[in-house]
Amino acid sequence: MAAVVWLFIVFISLTTNVLTYTIQGLTDTDYISYESNIEPQRKNGTDNSAERLTAVQNVLKANRVDAYIVPSTNAHNTISPTDARREWLSGLQGSSGTVVVTATESIARVWTDSRYFTQFEQQVNTSVFTLMKQGIDPSVESWLVDNMLPQSVVAVDPTTYTRASWTVLEAALKAVNVTLRAIPINLVDVARDDIEDPPPPRNFGTLISMPFRFSGRRANAKLEQLMTQMSDRGVSALVLAALDEIAYTLNIRGIGAIPNNPGFFSYLVLRTDLQGVNRVNLFWSNGTTPDNISQHLEEENVQFTMRAYDDIFTYLRQMSDDLPSGSTVWLSQDTSHAIYLAIETKPTTNILSTLSPVALVKCVKNDVELEGFRSAHIKDGIAVVRGLRWVEEQVANGVAVTEMDISNTLLEFRAQENDSYGPSFSTIAGAGENGAIIHYRPPEVGSRVITKEDMLLVDSGGHYMDGTTDITRTRHMSASPTPEQKFTFTRVLKGQIALGTTVFGRGTRGHTLDAFARKHLWDVGLNYAHGTGHGIGHFLNVHEGPSMILSGPLADDPGIVPGMIFSNEPGYYEVGQYGIRHEDVVEVIALDSQSDHMLASGLVGNFSGAGALGFHYISLVPQQAACIDVDLLTDFELEFLNKYHKRVLATLGPILKDRHLDEDYDWLEKECAPILRSAAILYKASPFLLLCLFSLWFTS
Ligand SMILES: *[C@@H]1O[C@H](CO)[C@@H](O)[C@H](O)[C@H]1NC(C)=O
Ligand SMILES: *[C@@H]1O[C@H](CO)[C@@H](O)[C@H](O)[C@H]1NC(C)=O
Ligand SMILES: *[C@@H]1O[C@H](CO)[C@@H](O)[C@H](O)[C@H]1NC(C)=O
Ligand SMILES: *[C@@H]1O[C@H](CO)[C@@H](O)[C@H](O)[C@H]1NC(C)=O
Ligand SMILES: *[C@@H]1O[C@H](CO)[C@@H](O)[C@H](O)[C@H]1NC(C)=O
Ligand SMILES: *[C@@H]1O[C@H](CO)[C@@H](O)[C@H](O)[C@H]1NC(C)=O
Ligand SMILES: *[C@@H]1O[C@H](CO)[C@@H](O)[C@H](O)[C@H]1NC(C)=O
Repeated sequence: MAAVVWLFIVFISLTTNVLTYTIQGLTDTDYISYESNIEPQRKNGTDNSAERLTAVQNVLKANRVDAYIVPSTNAHNTISPTDARREWLSGLQGSSGTVVVTATESIARVWTDSRYFTQFEQQVNTSVFTLMKQGIDPSVESWLVDNMLPQSVVAVDPTTYTRASWTVLEAALKAVNVTLRAIPINLVDVARDDIEDPPPPRNFGTLISMPFRFSGRRANAKLEQLMTQMSDRGVSALVLAALDEIAYTLNIRGIGAIPNNPGFFSYLVLRTDLQGVNRVNLFWSNGTTPDNISQHLEEENVQFTMRAYDDIFTYLRQMSDDLPSGSTVWLSQDTSHAIYLAIETKPTTNILSTLSPVALVKCVKNDVELEGFRSAHIKDGIAVVRGLRWVEEQVANGVAVTEMDISNTLLEFRAQENDSYGPSFSTIAGAGENGAIIHYRPPEVGSRVITKEDMLLVDSGGHYMDGTTDITRTRHMSASPTPEQKFTFTRVLKGQIALGTTVFGRGTRGHTLDAFARKHLWDVGLNYAHGTGHGIGHFLNVHEGPSMILSGPLADDPGIVPGMIFSNEPGYYEVGQYGIRHEDVVEVIALDSQSDHMLASGLVGNFSGAGALGFHYISLVPQQAACIDVDLLTDFELEFLNKYHKRVLATLGPILKDRHLDEDYDWLEKECAPILRSAAILYKASPFLLLCLFSLWFTS
C-alpha cells in the first residue's frame, strides 16, 4: 500500500527502460494480459538456470559485450512467448522484470517491483539470480554506472528499448566512459539456439475483419485522416508499431496471437510520397494476405501492399535511403529504438517524434462504437449477474467452489453471449485475504475454496465484437459482512459515486478527478494503492491511453472530451483479510440542464463556454445492498444507487425473462430492490417523534 501503483509503474517504466508505455496496469493483471506459455523453473531439481546463464555469457564473450540488458517486452510493448527472454533466462514470470547479465560473474541480477518479490523467491534459482528490488535497490542504470569499468560495453537489443530510455541510459554510461551498443540480433535468442532450446516461432494468429456495422468508420476514412495530418506536418512516412493502433486503423482484429488481446504482430507504414498500393504497407506474417482480409480491405476502399513482418527493418532502411534529403518520417515516441535506427540509416532524414496520432483519435469513440459499448455491457451484465448468482448459490449449498471455478463459470457465461471473443484479461477472483492482493490471479490448480464467511472480489471482463468490458463487484458470500467491512465497502462506494457523478469542464485532465474517488476514504485516513481509472479500447486493449484517471499527471493526457470511455474503480484492501473494489465502465457525455444526469438541472454555467461534461455508467450489475451502511450514504448517493439499480433491472430483467433464466431474474430483482433508510433512523428519531405527537395532543 506504500505507493500508488500507477505512479509506481510510470516510475518503473522510466527507470528500467522497459518498453512499458504508461498503459500498464491499474490492477496489473488486466494490463495487456499475458499468460506465459513457458514452464516456470520450479525449485524441484530440474532447474538449469546456470546452464542458461552460461550460454548467454558465452554469446556475450563472442560479441565482446561486458553486460547485456534483457527487458520484458518486445517491439510492440507487449509480450509473447517468442519474446519472453527475461522469463526464459531467469524463470521469473509476470509482467515486470529486467535481467542484467555480465560476461563473467557467476550470478545475474533481476530487477522487478514489489508485486513480484515473493514470486521471485518461488520461481527463481536464487543461487544463480539475485533479486534487485525496484524502488529500494539501485536502478539498472545506477547499477551499471557504478559497476561497469571504463571502456566496457553494455549492449541491448534495440527492439526492446524505446528511444527515450536509450538516450537516458546512453548519456549516463557515457559519463563513465562505458559504451551502450545496440546489437540488432537478440543475444538470448542466440544462446537459446546454442543450447538447442530455441524460442518458439512467432504466432501471427488469424485475422478477422471488423465489419462497418461495428467499427462505424471505414479504414479508408481513418487512413485518409492520417494522410492529411501527415501532409499538414510535411512528413513523407508514418510508422505505426502499436498493435492496437494498427488493428484500429484497418478495422482488423487478430485471434490467437496474444492471449486475451485482439492485437496481431505487425507494422503499418503509410507513405504520402508514393501512389496507389504503395501508400499503405502492412507487415504481417509471411506477407501473404488471407482471402477474406483482401476482401475486407477492398470493401473498406483500401489499396495496400502486404509485406512479410520480418522485412520491416530492411524496408525502413531502404525507404530512408530513397527519400529525398531533408524528408521527415513520423514515429510514435513509443516505437522502439530499432525503428529510429533504421530511419537514421540516412543522417539527412528527419524524425518527428510525438504521441501517435492514432492514439488521439482512437480514444474518442464514434457513435457506433459507443452504441456497441453499451450493447456489450448489457450482454456482459447478463453474464456477470449469472456468475455472481451461481457462486452464491454454490456457496450457500455448501458446494466446495473455488476462485478458479467462478473464473471459469464467467468465461462460460460470457461465451454464450453474441459476438463474444473471450476474456479481456485473466479474471481476478480473490476470496477473503486474496481479495487484498491487488494483482491476484487464482492458480489453475488448487485455488482457494470460497466460504460463506468470505468477501469475494471478482474483477473480470470480456471482448465482444461490439466492445470490451471490465467490471469489478465485491460481495459477501452470506450477506453478513462485519461492521468494518460495511464501513469500508460503503466508503469505497461513496467515492465511486462521487467520481461517477462529478461535473467537469471539457478538456479537464484525468488526474484532476482522481481525488474525488478517494475523498471518503481519505476522510477517515484510508486509501488504495492504485489508480482510479483507465481508458478502454473498442474490442482492443482493456487498458487504453492516453487519458487516464491517476493520482499524478500523464504527460500526454489530451484532456477529457465526450465519447471517451473510462473505468471508475476505487478500492480498499485490508491485507491478510479482505479486499474491496467497485469498478464500472463509464462514458463521457456532454451535459446541459436537460441531460439525464443527477446534477444536470442545477447547472448554471458551462465552464465559460468550454462545455460541461459528466459520466454515464454503462456497466450493469447491482451492488450488494447487504454490504452498504445506509447511514453513511447521503440522500443524493442513495438516490443515485436506487436509480442505477432500477435501470439495471429494467435493462437486464426482460432479457433474463426472455431467456427463461427465471432464477437469475429473481435474484436480480431482489438485488435491485430499492434500498431504504434503515429502521434505525426511525428508531433514533422516535423520542423526537413522540415529543411532536405529545405536543400536538397537548396543544389541541
Ligand atoms: C519440476 O517442475 C516442472 C514445472 O512445474 C514439472 O513439469 C516437472 O515435472 C517437475 N519435475 C520434477 C522432477 O518434479
Ligand atoms: C540452482 O542452481 C545451482 C547451480 O546450477 C544448482 O546447483 C542448484 O541445484 C539449483 N537449485 C535448485 C533449487 O534447483
Ligand atoms: C573517461 O575518459 C576520458 C578520456 O580518456 C578521461 O579523461 C576521463 O577521466 C574518463 N572518465 C572516467 C569517469 O573514467
Ligand atoms: C477469415 O479467414 C480465417 C481463416 O483464414 C477465418 O478463421 C476467419 O473466421 C475468417 N472470417 C473473417 C470474418 O475474418
Ligand atoms: C505464407 O503462409 C500461408 C499460410 O500459412 C501459406 O499458405 C503460404 O504458402 C505462405 N507463403 C509463402 C510465400 O511462404
Ligand atoms: C444474438 O443474435 C441473434 C441474431 O442476430 C439474435 O436473434 C439473438 O436475439 C441475439 N441474442 C442475444 C442474447 O442478444
Ligand atoms: C455554453 O453556454 C452558452 C450560453 O448558454 C452557449 O451559447 C454555448 O453554446 C454553450 N457551449 C457549450 C460548449 O455547451
